Amino acid sequence: SSNIVVAIDGYSSCGKSTLAKALAKQLHFIYVDSGAMYRAVTLYLLRKNIDLKDPAAVEAVLPEVHLNFHARDYQTHILLNDEEVSDEIRLMPVSENVSAVAAIRSVRHEMVKQQQRMGRSKNIVMDGRDIGTTVFPNAQVKLFMTADPKVRAERRFKELQPNNPDITLEEVFENLAHRDYLDTTRAESPLIRAEDAIILDNTNLTPEQQLQFALDKVEPFL
Ligand code: C5P
Repeated sequence: SSNIVVAIDGYSSCGKSTLAKALAKQLHFIYVDSGAMYRAVTLYLLRKNIDLKDPAAVEAVLPEVHLNFHARDYQTHILLNDEEVSDEIRLMPVSENVSAVAAIRSVRHEMVKQQQRMGRSKNIVMDGRDIGTTVFPNAQVKLFMTADPKVRAERRFKELQPNNPDITLEEVFENLAHRDYLDTTRAESPLIRAEDAIILDNTNLTPEQQLQFALDKVEPFL
């Protein structure tokens, strides 16, 4: 039989990557953070001062962007042209611009192509926005995660605060709302639940409960 793909999509800061990592670790699957790829492309464009509103200018430099993953302990270590950028891609300049970059057609085509290659022969858990709809429409298991927006902002705020002492909860809330708006309304593969995706609202669930929920869905395919 073929390899198993678990697709985890949903809104920003819903705990997708926390669940995806735990699931991959438990099952010995490969974890791929597709959002990190859009973030790394965004970082490259910002550093090069490329006009993000100019799709042709963005497309022209895409061949200069080489992304690689180093999987250590099921964390995401992403390399942009051999430089580890895992921390820098989480900072506000990238977070504020990534959804605009992710709306560009040529960027999505390139990322989707690379993502499909990663899931062609291996068992993987991939999280993102269009994994169950566009990247792997035939994934055996599709989860669509959601949670109360206030709870999501508080979680993300706690995560960012240690390294960003000036950040405010309002700023984080606004960024999440803005990204969700752009992600759900863009023309090119917008964030939407695949018809066969199972909804997982984790507002009141512990990480352990979420893991068990997901394991139960994958079990029949093992
Ligand atoms: O998952 P994360 O929040 O790091 O993703 C950052 C941004 O990348 C999202 O807000 C979205 O604009 C974009 N993205 C996407 N498709 C994916 C993964 C992420 O458009 N599969």
